[in-house]
Amino acid sequence: MSTVVLQVLERDLPELPPQIAGVVEELKDPNVINRDALIRKIEECGNLSEVVQNAVNLGRMRHGRRARSLDDAILLVGLEATRHIILSVLLQALFPRRQLLENFDRENFLRHCLGTGLAAQLLCIEAGLSEQYDSYKLINYGLIHDIGILALDRCLPVTLNRIFQIATEERIPILQAEVKVLGRFTHSVIGEWVCGKWHLPADIRSVVQHHHAPRRAEVNKQETILMHIADTISFNYYESLLESVHKYGIEEELVRSLGLSMAQISKVEEALPERVERALEILDFKALNFSCPF
Ligand SMILES: [Fe+2]
Ligand SMILES: [Fe+2]
Repeated sequence: MSTVVLQVLERDLPELPPQIAGVVEELKDPNVINRDALIRKIEECGNLSEVVQNAVNLGRMRHGRRARSLDDAILLVGLEATRHIILSVLLQALFPRRQLLENFDRENFLRHCLGTGLAAQLLCIEAGLSEQYDSYKLINYGLIHDIGILALDRCLPVTLNRIFQIATEERIPILQAEVKVLGRFTHSVIGEWVCGKWHLPADIRSVVQHHHAPRRAEVNKQETILMHIADTISFNYYESLLESVHKYGIEEELVRSLGLSMAQISKVEEALPERVERALEILDFKALNFSCPF
């Protein structure tokens, strides 16, 4: 990585506070989560327990009863879904939304991230894979796959702003502008560095590192391909929000590897904008406001 970018990230991206690091550690391996230890650690972590319950209840608005405790929330949606809700809440809280500079629009970026998770859900429905992929997991992956961009926004906002400025001024795709500014140390590389610094779980690291080059994934390859296609669909949607005409291609071979056709990709592309708007109407971000200690 460019020494300057690395030096600034090293200096300005804090270590995880011990309580958050403790929860992340407990969630590291989805197969060996100690439920009681997890609940104990969450109870020590500010209002996290309440926020997780709110997230479960938001997702279940139209279905059945509300969770009355953290234990109850786990019972209602399961440990895997709860794991993803917790990681999503924590990681979002580490990058509070702000609008410092004119060219990077955080609201549209949220639409892209949420859109990536929702596109992954729609792809799973089309491919008959819904049973295999927890929907909270797909939303979590969508919300955090571009954690490298969030790290740039937090530590190098002027550099991030410059990327979007160049894309607009030179009428080139955002990813091309990113390479012009950062060279080969793109947001995927920066994101992987963040995952390493914060000891984030391997499944998240794989999505963050490989969502633009899924063939390189060594673990969870199929879900990384799924997130790559979802990201590309949602990136095209994002470019359209920014009034750009650029469209990233989707490799047919990867599409076929999920048992999908290009016609089904078009169907998901058409459905996505309305899905994002509907999700934004339902989501209550105040209910998901975890008071992060830094
Ligand atoms: Fe990305
Ligand atoms: Fe993305």
